[in-house]
Amino acid sequence: MIALEKVTKRYGSTTVVDDVSLTFGGEGVAALIGPNGAGKSTLFSLVGRLLTADGGRVLVDGRDVTTAPSRELATTLAVLRQDNHVGARLTVGDLVEFGRFPHCGGRLTATDRDHVERAIDYLGLEPFRGRFLDELSGGQRQRAFIAMVLAQDTRYVLLDEPLNNLDLRHMTDMMKLLRRMADELDKRVIVVLHDINFAATYADRIVAMRDGRVVADAPAREVMTAEVLRSVYDAAVDVREIDGRPVALYYS
Ligand SMILES: Nc1ncnc2c1ncn2[C@@H]1O[C@H](COP(=O)(O)OP(=O)(O)O)[C@@H](O)[C@H]1O
Ligand SMILES: [Mg+2]
Repeated sequence: MIALEKVTKRYGSTTVVDDVSLTFGGEGVAALIGPNGAGKSTLFSLVGRLLTADGGRVLVDGRDVTTAPSRELATTLAVLRQDNHVGARLTVGDLVEFGRFPHCGGRLTATDRDHVERAIDYLGLEPFRGRFLDELSGGQRQRAFIAMVLAQDTRYVLLDEPLNNLDLRHMTDMMKLLRRMADELDKRVIVVLHDINFAATYADRIVAMRDGRVVADAPAREVMTAEVLRSVYDAAVDVREIDGRPVALYYS
């Protein structure tokens, strides 16, 4: 389980994560939604120990992240950040191999290579494995980063806006992949999404944040009401049922 207990993060006098208590891990795929600036990325950084909280604590499988050994944390939990800055003169293959670093310290065993191959295959990156990252389209690069995280083979996978830069087909493929990671590989996926229809279709649970607080947390279908979505985004949203599924309409 990932448990946040009364977690607070401030920048100066601004509180960006405000006394948040939440647990993740009870369901395969949880979607984290909310407007820009709600605190979603900050929350991920606190869980991944990229930031330290000003109050409260974060436990991963019962262990406080601030005192857990790095290697233990990195083999339990992977965070794909919204903006990835790694050297562009790195090939797709190198990047995916990086995902195995916490397991092997850089000397890949046959098992490590297996994970690398599987991740490259899952993301359809075989044709690009020898390419440098700056020779890829935004979507191809995004998939390479996901493959790195998949190769890391952690129980918890946190992905911050993984659909960025992806075309229609690759967005759907990505959501199906996350579902498979949960259903077939028994991973616990927590994913920041802006397209709430993807959240409703593929996530078991939706957690909505606004102004640093959790304002909704329920099975996906319960969050998919016009009333809840309007209050989360402060925007005109309608929800219709199409083929028995709730679909949010936010084009006007
Ligand atoms: N390093 C920082 N210094 C000051 N404010 C920050 C910093 N990083 C993020 N913020 C602020 O914290 C708030 C939450 O940001 P973020 O977690 O990135 O939101 P989200 O991912 O939901 O869009 C925003 O108002 C943002 O401007
Ligand atoms: Mg963000």
